[in-house]
This record gives sequence, C-alpha cells and structure tokens, in this order.
Amino acid sequence: MGLAVIHTRAQEGLRAPPVAVEVDLANGLPAITVVGLAETAVKESRDRVRAALSNCGFEFPARRITINLAPADLPKEGGRYDLAIALAILAASGQIPAAACAGLEFIGELSLGGELRPVRAALPAALACRDAGHTLIVPQANAAEARRVSGLSLLAARHLLEICAHLKAETLLLEATQAPEPVPGEAEPDVDLSDVRGQYAARRALEVAAAGEHSVLMMGPPGTGKSMLARRLPGILPPLTETEALEVATIASVSDLGFRSDRWKKRPFRAPHHTASAAALVGGGSVPRPGEISLAHRGVLFLDELPEFDRRVLEVLREPLENGEIHISRAARQAVFPARFQLIAAMNPCPCGYLGDARGRCRCTEEQVARYRSRISGPLLDRIDLHVEVPAVKTEALGDAAPPGESSQAVGERVAAARARQLARQDKPNAALNQRETTRLCIVKPAVRDLVLQAMERLGLSARAYHRLLRLARTIADLDESDVITARHMSEAIHFRLLDRQPIR
Ligand SMILES: Nc1ncnc2c1ncn2[C@@H]1O[C@H](COP(=O)(O)OP(=O)(O)OP(=O)(O)O)[C@@H](O)[C@H]1O
Ligand SMILES: [Mg+2]
Ligand SMILES: [Zn+2]
Repeated sequence: MGLAVIHTRAQEGLRAPPVAVEVDLANGLPAITVVGLAETAVKESRDRVRAALSNCGFEFPARRITINLAPADLPKEGGRYDLAIALAILAASGQIPAAACAGLEFIGELSLGGELRPVRAALPAALACRDAGHTLIVPQANAAEARRVSGLSLLAARHLLEICAHLKAETLLLEATQAPEPVPGEAEPDVDLSDVRGQYAARRALEVAAAGEHSVLMMGPPGTGKSMLARRLPGILPPLTETEALEVATIASVSDLGFRSDRWKKRPFRAPHHTASAAALVGGGSVPRPGEISLAHRGVLFLDELPEFDRRVLEVLREPLENGEIHISRAARQAVFPARFQLIAAMNPCPCGYLGDARGRCRCTEEQVARYRSRISGPLLDRIDLHVEVPAVKTEALGDAAPPGESSQAVGERVAAARARQLARQDKPNAALNQRETTRLCIVKPAVRDLVLQAMERLGLSARAYHRLLRLARTIADLDESDVITARHMSEAIHFRLLDRQPIR
C-alpha cells in the first residue's frame, strides 16, 4: 500500500469546501513534498506531523513522500490539515486500516507530542460535513463548537493515539452528541435598562429602534448616559432564532475572536474605537476575515463619538446598511460576509460637548460646530432612522433616590410583540422593507400623508427619507398594536428626525 486519501475541509469565507489529502509513498531518497497551493503554515505541518508520528511510536516512512492537498486551486492555510496529513501517512504505510477512514472527515492541528489542538472555523466545517452525510472527528477543544450543528455525527479526541485506536477498532471514541448546555437568554446579565435614570426620549428611541431594527443616533453632552443606553440595546432585542444563532456563531468561528460557547444565542455588541481602520471595520486580510460590521451581524454596532471616525471609514458603512452584506476583494481573493447589524451611534453636539448647556460652558464658534457635524456625511445621516437628544439630567435625577427606569425585560416584551406583528405581516423587521414593500405595507391616510409632505418640505427631506419615515411610523404603530398609521404615530416619527430639523450642512 503506497497511496491513501483522507478527507478534511478548508475554510474560505464562511464556507468549508472539501479537501482530499492524498499521500503517496514512493521509492527513492527519503523526502517530503507538500503540493496543492499550501501556504507556509501548511508546509510547516510536515515537520509537526513527522515529530508527532515519531513521538507517538509510529514509524515515519523512510520513503519519498508526496502530500497533495486537492483541489490545488483552493488556497490553504493554518495547521488544520495536520491530523488529516498524519492519518494519510499512517494509512499509506499500512499502520492504520485505510478502509476505516471511509465516510469520515478530520480536522485538527497536532502538537509535536501528538496532542490535538483546536482549529479556527470548526463550525462551518461541521455544517458542511453534516450536509455531506459524513462523520466528523475534531479536537476535544472544538467539540462544543461543532456540537452546535444538529444532526451531525461527531466524534472528539484529545490525542492522535485515541483516533488511531478508534480506527483500529481497539478503543472507540464516544459520540459527542450530548445536548448543548442551556444558556440564559439575556445579552448581559449585569446591564439592565433599569440602571438608566430619566432620559425618557432616548429610552423611547431605543425601544422603537429595537422593535423595528432601526438605526439610531444619540446626541448629547458628555456623561448623560449615551454609552449606557447603547450597551443596553442587545438586551431588549428579540431572542435569536437557531438559524440566526448559527450565522452569528459561524462568523465568530472564522474570525480572530473564535467561537465562544458563552456567547451562543446572544446578540453581538461591537463597539470599535473611532481610530479603527476601514479594514478593521469591514474586514480584510490576505485571507479575508470578517470585520467589526460582520461580527455585529444580527446584533448591535455601536459607533461612539461618530464624528471622530475617519470619513472614508464611515462611507464604507453605506453598502452594508443598505443590503446587509459586505463584499471584500483582496488581491486574487474575494469574500462576501453578512453584515446585517443595527447601528447605534453617539456624538456630542459640538467639539467641546457642551453646546446648549444651561451654564453656558460651550465656547465653540458656529463654524466649529458646523465643521464638526459635517464630518458625518449627509448620505450616512440619511440612513440613520432615528436621531434623539440625550440632554444633561439634573444631578438629583441620577441619585439612587431617583426611581429606577423600566427593566430590560419589560421593554423587551413590548419589543418582541411589535416584532412578532412585523414578522407575521411581512416576514422581516420594518427597517428591512425595500421601497416597493414600504409603499405597499406602510399605507397612510391622505391626512397623514399631508403631514409627511409638509414635514418633508419644511425639513428638506429626500425621497429616501420619506420611505424611512413611513417605516419608522409603521414601527411606532406596531408598538401601539395598531394596524393603521395614525397622525400621532407619524408625528412621533417626524420628531425623531432631530438632525433634519436642525440642518447641519
Ligand atoms: N441617565 C443616567 N442614569 C444613570 N446613570 C447615568 C446616567 N447618565 C450618566 N450616568 C452615569 O454616568 C456615567 C457615564 O455615562 P455614559 O458613559 O453612558 O455617558 P455618555 O453619554 O456616553 O458620555 P460621553 O459623551 O462622555 O461618552 C455612567 O457610567 C453612569 O454611572
Ligand atoms: Mg460614552
Ligand atoms: Zn462646544
């Protein structure tokens, strides 16, 4: 026996295409060659595999060894092929029965002693393996991740020797099928909306935003609770469905963050710093990895101090805000990552932060204020559905004597009910309706339409803003359990276009 094939999976974007590791043993001077577009880390794998096999007491074939990773045109990186390469060498040299590997797929990196180390992107491999009807063998440290895929036949091991014993039918690995441990539904148990005192307008804006998945911009002086409010948005959003949770976990799994069991079924909350580069935000790298906006998929992207972000960085948000995904092309490689996030942004009213302060602390000139605000481009502002002021609160209103605000649970229940109405009506949140759907589903009586037209003229709103207003009013009506959009709903929606009312350009 001089030839063997072992099946594994690569990672490409969010997919896990199949890879066959072929090993051929030929007569000639002992040497190992790795072919098949393997990058440096994969080439290093032959040294790890050689050490691991020797240290496990196997014989390393003193032959001319050719390792081919097929298909050759698929880029391959990382140590994830170690296990498959080791097994292919063992099978080709007759040290394990090749037939026992049929219907099995393997992923895992090896230590020099043969211990199995976890790999990135085990979740997409697990999904693809299940769809292929194969059994997957992973390092124990990847088991919790792969186990999230229901219907997958999954085995986990800590050491190469355990896998070899299994293949030789000496000691069988146990199927890693135990049900995932239940996790609490809340986003963060230690942050609750009841911590926020006062700020009724901002709390209302947060609730409306959560109900219809609308984006929000909060404007106010320092220390008024903007960051506090933003952090509490995930906790009032409806729970993720199983499918959504898998999407979120898959993105984390292929990213530098990695899969985290304790984040399962929790809405992401990402708050990149304003010095973040466009690549950090949208993703990139020689092997494209998801950026902050994809890590925030199905969750919240918080941009604090919005005007401090580089304008070019903000411009890249326009595409995902419109269509919920981002296309990355880097040299020869391209990737599409989902990026349906809810944007929540915060800013001060002026460079010093105290414009409009009762004690007159602001010394900014009109020109400085205008320049500060113009850093957010009109088209981006146009895509933010709600603008809300978060003014300074009197100190006594913040003390422990002040009544606590309504809890995240109470608000979350109203949000869930309003969202359920939307899903029943149109199978998606209001913010995701396109122009045609908006016209069809957000019908307003002539009197209400007149209200909108007047407001548009007064505020100089674009046609895009018109549809945005309709969707926002629809959400307000949904929170009110109303099938019709009334003048009151529409007035509140118009009220949330704060920055249109105070032209900033
Ligand atoms: N409305 C509020 N209710 C309760 N505590 C508040 C409120 N506003 C501010 N605080 C207190 O002030 C601290 C600062 O609040 P936060 O960081 O949310 O302010 P901010 O508006 O984001 O300010 P900045 O503009 O400086 O970022 C909070 O940790 C909290 O202790
Ligand atoms: Mg803040
Ligand atoms: Zn100022």
